[in-house]
Amino acid sequence: MTTAQVVDHPLEETAAWLSDVASDPVSFVEGAFPWGEGELVNFDGPMEWQRWVLEQIRDGLLTPGKAIQIAVASGHGIGKTALVCWITLWAMTTAGDTRGIITASTEAMLNTRLRAELRKWFRLFRAQTFFDLTMTALLPKDASHEQTWRIDLLPWNPNRPESFAGLHNAGRRILVIFDEASAIDRAIWETVMPVATDRDAEVIWCVFGNPSTRKGSSRIASTTVIGSPGTSIAEPSRSPTNRNSSAGSRPTARTATS
Ligand SMILES: Nc1ncnc2c1ncn2[C@@H]1O[C@H](COP(=O)(O)OP(=O)(O)OP(=O)(O)O)[C@@H](O)[C@H]1O
Ligand SMILES: [Mg+2]
Repeated sequence: MTTAQVVDHPLEETAAWLSDVASDPVSFVEGAFPWGEGELVNFDGPMEWQRWVLEQIRDGLLTPGKAIQIAVASGHGIGKTALVCWITLWAMTTAGDTRGIITASTEAMLNTRLRAELRKWFRLFRAQTFFDLTMTALLPKDASHEQTWRIDLLPWNPNRPESFAGLHNAGRRILVIFDEASAIDRAIWETVMPVATDRDAEVIWCVFGNPSTRKGSSRIASTTVIGSPGTSIAEPSRSPTNRNSSAGSRPTARTATS
């Protein structure tokens, strides 16, 4: 955090703001980053489809005991990984003792693209002073919490899916994110699956992918994570508010609650 940001947002005010937006990822993203300034001078905030996903999470939080499950399939460069980073920062920093896992298609993607994007948004994040972003995790600065309050960037291995097993956090929040999800092995999906029926935690499971390959398309479209009865399908359009728009096709997003 720069000196200017500290002056603009005294710590108590920032902590109070985090608490205010604990159930509202839309307001979180609007207030977390210096939209319209510096590096973000050409950007007003989330694109329309990104806002739609954030709204689905916000609205899903109104029904405790039901996992929030969202899948987005789109072309390249539309802002999926940026959205992953915002959801991660919101989930982690607004609710104490949140646990989470983020993974991506390959370890290289996780370690380079995703981590670089997370570093970018963490650097711009208004409340970064309370947290640390290491090579493998997002943690609170208060080390006494680091075992119970953390989101790990975890590479997957189909022969060792157990590192994705047993996600429990009674009375607290659990975040699971698959980026470039179509390339993630079925064994990992199946290992994570029980979290979707956990009634004791606030579960948010988001998958983002590119349907350009046949395999990827069917994995994203047919998984039971997003295909249960009551699934609503929306095709949000790109935002007219962004002064710069990134290239990519219109995403298809689905939500489901279990
Ligand atoms: N609403 C936004 N405002 C400002 N910058 C954004 C926004 N959304 C995305 N970006 C930026 O646009 C660039 C491309 O976004 P991102 O990498 O998230 O796309 P992607 O859909 O994950 O791409 P790929 O399909 O290649 O993985 C990144 O630099 C990201 O930080
Ligand atoms: Mg991406």
